[in-house]
Amino acid sequence: MESLLAAACFAFLLLNAPGAESRRCHCDDDGDGGGVDDSSDQSPYKLFVFGDSFADAGNALKGRLGLNTRGWYEPCGVSDARHGGKPTGRCSDGMVQSDFVAKILGHKEAPPAERVRRHDGVDLSPGINFADAGAGVLLGWNLDTQIDVFRRLLRHKIVDDKDLSQSVALVAISAGVDYSDVPSDPADLDQYILNVTDGIVDGVRQLQDLGVNDLLVNLLPPIGCTPWNTRAYNYTECVRDSITGLHNKHLKHKLGDDDSVLLLDLDTVFKGIVTPKTEKLFYHRHTPCCESADEEGFCGQVDGDGNKQYTLCDGPDDYFYWDNTNPTQAGWKAVMEQLEGSIKDFLGS
Ligand SMILES: *[C@@H]1O[C@H](CO)[C@@H](O)[C@H](O)[C@H]1NC(C)=O
Ligand SMILES: *[C@@H]1O[C@H](CO)[C@@H](O)[C@H](O)[C@H]1NC(C)=O
Repeated sequence: MESLLAAACFAFLLLNAPGAESRRCHCDDDGDGGGVDDSSDQSPYKLFVFGDSFADAGNALKGRLGLNTRGWYEPCGVSDARHGGKPTGRCSDGMVQSDFVAKILGHKEAPPAERVRRHDGVDLSPGINFADAGAGVLLGWNLDTQIDVFRRLLRHKIVDDKDLSQSVALVAISAGVDYSDVPSDPADLDQYILNVTDGIVDGVRQLQDLGVNDLLVNLLPPIGCTPWNTRAYNYTECVRDSITGLHNKHLKHKLGDDDSVLLLDLDTVFKGIVTPKTEKLFYHRHTPCCESADEEGFCGQVDGDGNKQYTLCDGPDDYFYWDNTNPTQAGWKAVMEQLEGSIKDFLGS
């Protein structure tokens, strides 16, 4: 357990390196087979997205290559047919969770990023994406900050109150950024997890008060299974982790009875894919497609001479994990296919 914590810590320290406000890769593609007709956007739902790299589809500044800007650099986006295989700020080889949620609601991809919203002619009818890679409850361009921006847009009527009449929010604070650096004392850790989950619940309450109808809230995936933590074991097995279960227990306790909230159980779904009892959906379930040479490095890293400091797999579709934290596009597709039915039931569609 201690080594797990250390590993988790380590992973998150990396995620939160200086300048880590956001790395997003923007990748959409329709080669993802999301299953929804791409020709038109006829969704009745407005989607407002809050969260981290699982949901960010272009909010991070396209700064110099770094941990949090890597989504704007190769090889992010390599499988992204919709965007010509180019990086778009999404931390994956293609589409991310917010894209698949948008598709389930009848959109083509995640709604426009808040950062591009201000450009002329951007159609805000699908909603807005405020998520930023590197965000947590406590850290980064965090949930509160993202909700503050949303509140400001409502106040200025850039988002109209009536836009909320059929609105769905995705709250995706689940890449584990807050757990980059956790207290080593078990009692403090418990309190810390409570603090993080209280922050998520508080965000949900704020969004409800603002008038959002329905909320999809991510539970934490098994962080002991992320390549950050399994690298030390040559990507052979998940590490025991004392955070995921408690985090999710708190969220279930606080939000489980709320009819306007659907908890997305990424723990169960990821585990079912990564440690399958029967059907194996992916040949590579622990090893990431894009692996940094240095365990403290990141996918997409280059040295001063421009030499790649990472290796890229040949077939991303055969891998569940893209980098040390995020699933591949094929990984997200498999995850969201398993959640699509419950999301549709929840929205009554
Ligand atoms: C939890 O939050 C409280 C109130 O903000 C703070 O005083 C406390 O230090 C936090 N505890 C941990 C372990 O982070
Ligand atoms: C991982 O692989 C290396 C090289 O094959 C080996 O030396 C090491 O013992 C392995 N570690 C574990 C935990 O299996």
